Amino acid sequence: MIIIKTPDQIEKIRLSSQLAAKTLEFVSKLIRPGVSTLSLNDIAHKYMLDHHAIPATLNYGGFPKSICTSINNVVCHGIPSSKQVLKEGDIINIDITTILDGYFGDVSATYPVGKISPKAEELLLRTKESLDLSIQSLQPGKSLNLCVGHVIEPYVKRFGFSVVKDLGGHGVGLKFHEDPFVYHFDTGDKKPILKPGMIFTIEPMVNASSNWHVNIDPVDGWTVRTQDNSLTAQFEHTVLITDSGHEVLTSLH
Ligand code: MF3
Ligand code: CO
Ligand code: CO
Repeated sequence: MIIIKTPDQIEKIRLSSQLAAKTLEFVSKLIRPGVSTLSLNDIAHKYMLDHHAIPATLNYGGFPKSICTSINNVVCHGIPSSKQVLKEGDIINIDITTILDGYFGDVSATYPVGKISPKAEELLLRTKESLDLSIQSLQPGKSLNLCVGHVIEPYVKRFGFSVVKDLGGHGVGLKFHEDPFVYHFDTGDKKPILKPGMIFTIEPMVNASSNWHVNIDPVDGWTVRTQDNSLTAQFEHTVLITDSGHEVLTSLH
């Protein structure tokens, strides 16, 4: 069941989403060769606590850290580690979810580490653009798939890329993961229909190859990698459906 949020709940989720976005902005400025993903985790953790929030990922289903850090061929759910040190040419997704006053906001972006290859540049550009195009299409009365999977999948395919199918976006706000499941490929579904007060994430994971398959690390049980070890990128926003269209709750501008 998709929850329609009340104006009070929306304001609280907006505040949490803004803090998630500010935390991401803050830690992303520290990305450079030589920095460990554990140090990014620790800085983000402190930032959230200093702003009276709790990192939602810490202990979520046993996840051991406060943010997800996913490098190069890691699709998502990478675990920050002191052994994982950024190097020139890497791309890294940082995914941050805050709990503020009991309400959840979820955001992520993929960043270059120093100078990256033209192919990696193209992947970041097109993945971000696919999210932005999807968001621009959101309005009440349209189906979720028409605005998300139907927009994102054909767009990234034009560049020889593919959309990961095993993972998706999700309703968010009162809990970390609520209905609906948000597919980033075209399912052809006519339902659900978008309604004012719905809040969910859109978070396409795009592989720089035509192979959309992924594997989960059998040792840590979390790290999701591309099956063919191709580069992969992700951008995520928490969005609200409004009477007139939409609002990006995790946007700072
Ligand atoms: N933030 C991720 C999402 O966008 C979920 C991370 S779950 C974790 O849905 F357990 F890996 F942290
Ligand atoms: Co997230
Ligand atoms: Co999410």
